Amino acid sequence: MSSDIDTGKRRFLTAAASVVGGAGAAAVAIPFVASMAPSARAEAAGAPVRVDISRLEPGQLLTVEWRGKPVWLFRRSPEIIADLASLNDQLRDPLSKQASQQPQYAQNETRAIRDDLMVMVGICTHLGCSPTFRPELAPADLGANWKGGFFCPCHGSRFDLAGRVFQGVPAPTNLEVPPYHFLGDDVVIVGESAEGAA
Ligand code: FES
Repeated sequence: MSSDIDTGKRRFLTAAASVVGGAGAAAVAIPFVASMAPSARAEAAGAPVRVDISRLEPGQLLTVEWRGKPVWLFRRSPEIIADLASLNDQLRDPLSKQASQQPQYAQNETRAIRDDLMVMVGICTHLGCSPTFRPELAPADLGANWKGGFFCPCHGSRFDLAGRVFQGVPAPTNLEVPPYHFLGDDVVIVGESAEGAA
């Protein structure tokens, strides 16, 4: 008899605790979601991100967030574009044959829709660190042949300014190009291909 009462009491306490916990969680969650603008809420859920690149100068990098990941937009100068071809024999997949790493429309020499703009997911294809932007020419720690690129501080993987991985580093593949398209000359929609593009 007494054990029945105890059991009943424990059930009640447990149920009361769950209700309080549930109400507490809701009270925290509602103001957070309500405080986000509708577009920010959509972006957090994975919607495409609209990026104005009109003020991005050659040599500059802009980072935006898409689906919780950093996405880099980097403006390439004619010299940088010319340098890309000279690196091919040092790279693991210079022609981007690994189809999973970019949409078809970026499976070309610059891995891009337009040569002057790189759009890349900034996450190392080894174990997921975010590589560091190293645009300098021939810095002491990266060697005389370095023409600018991205260096992963975790285990030393190196990528060029088209996100192509060098030979002899742990990262197995080029960085990933996300789906994207242009709206006019100066607006990029990251996270969505143009209609009909693969
Ligand atoms: S995570 Fe980048 S080299 Fe290991």
